[in-house]
Amino acid sequence: MRGIRHDRDHPYVVKLKDLPGFENLLGQADNDEQKNKFEKLSNYEIHLCACGLSKNKPFCDGHHAKTMKEESGKIYLYDKDGNVITTLNKLTDSEDGNEIDLPNEYE
Ligand code: FES
Repeated sequence: MRGIRHDRDHPYVVKLKDLPGFENLLGQADNDEQKNKFEKLSNYEIHLCACGLSKNKPFCDGHHAKTMKEESGKIYLYDKDGNVITTLNKLTDSEDGNEIDLPNEYE
């Protein structure tokens, strides 16, 4: 079993037009029809799961809604179906009882 800390309750949003090289794609259109298709594509967004609960990783599938009611400062453990197994106030080492400080991926 592996525990991964996720603090976000919403996805990362990637806009195709912001990806490196997308401007080059527009410049390579052979005709207006192709250029229009590329311009339409530029408005698309990709939503990447950052909560860890999506069943369609790396893409967000809306399961982050389950994290919206999480209380700040508590640790939530989810099963593979995205149901809360339990909540903890802290994690402790089973051998010495010391609190385990999980690193925050955003710090
Ligand atoms: S961020 Fe949406 S399902 Fe994880």
